[in-house]
Amino acid sequence: MSKGKILVTGGTGYIGSHTVVDLLENGFEVVSADNYHNSKASVMDGIESITGVRIVNHNIDLADATATAKLFEEHRFDGAIHFAAYKAVGESVEKPLEYFRNNLNSLMNVIDGLRSQGSSNLVFSSSCSVYGNADELPVTESTPRKEAESPYARTKQMGEDILYDFCAQHKDFNAILLRYFNPAGAHPSGKIGEDAANPASNLVPVITEVGCGKRDKLTVFGDDYDTRDGSCIRDYIHVSDLAHAHTLAVEALMAGGGSENPALYNLGIGEGLTVLEVINAFEKVSGKSLNYELGPRRPGDVVAVYADRSKATRELKWEPKYGVEDIMRTAWAWEEKR
Ligand code: WQD
Repeated sequence: MSKGKILVTGGTGYIGSHTVVDLLENGFEVVSADNYHNSKASVMDGIESITGVRIVNHNIDLADATATAKLFEEHRFDGAIHFAAYKAVGESVEKPLEYFRNNLNSLMNVIDGLRSQGSSNLVFSSSCSVYGNADELPVTESTPRKEAESPYARTKQMGEDILYDFCAQHKDFNAILLRYFNPAGAHPSGKIGEDAANPASNLVPVITEVGCGKRDKLTVFGDDYDTRDGSCIRDYIHVSDLAHAHTLAVEALMAGGGSENPALYNLGIGEGLTVLEVINAFEKVSGKSLNYELGPRRPGDVVAVYADRSKATRELKWEPKYGVEDIMRTAWAWEEKR
């Protein structure tokens, strides 16, 4: 008997697939909905090889209200985790309407779907990018959100606002908002990892691609920031730690909800690392020296952001297990295998 049937939108994506594994390992039944915009169907082979379970993925466009409503006619879900969204910051600047249309319509269609079956328990994938260049560090859940640095970040802020307003009107609709810091690394089994359909732009996959010769070199975007070594600071969180936080959030919702509704949690490990420190961690675990150069700043980058994660630890009983060397070790093993 499973603990419940959970819809994971974006279930073949990077964070989605790791969360599907964690949900299955914790006794849930999982259905995925993903149109493979930024993922591959072969990820389900990896999930099966880890868990022994072959999940079903509905290849639908969640921004399509009719297709999404049909999904909710076929299944009755005890909850949903909504990952499916476009997430490339630079692309969002070039194509803002595509980002607003896709990211917001898909969220509203999933809310409608849950409501249509008298269900609730929605976990929304948000992002630390809602904080912008925060005035205080580490950021807590009550640190004021700043002006979004990109349309992508704005869709995350608007998604949060949609759920605040919806839950205020529908008190019986329970939601949790999870603000991710910098997800990285791969499943310890080496069977799933970050395998985006588009070329990598995030630091850790760029490092491993340079390390294995798929790219010539890494450019460090700025070494003249006011930080301990001049490069930007971020809070890197292992994707498996992030995945488990989603399982805990679903369990909290099914037990009646978080401390408020929607409840909001930062998911970072609370450690700020510079770009150069992450490079050093790679060199240490791989035994290779990385080919990188110091280059100009990247527009839109915040200088430093890292989390106070005490609320998630206190209320969700979430304890991250992995650090940056585990991130680099698993990311490197995954890259070498790919
Ligand atoms: C990290 C640091 C770069 C590449 C983004 C999204 C955020 C979230 C996580 C979804 C920065 C530096 C990077 C390179 C570099 N996504 N860098 N050379 O920008 O912190 O966050 O991904 O939720 O919303 O904005 O991640 O990995 O791109 O950059 O120097 O080739 O690495 O300048 O300081 P970012 P990132």
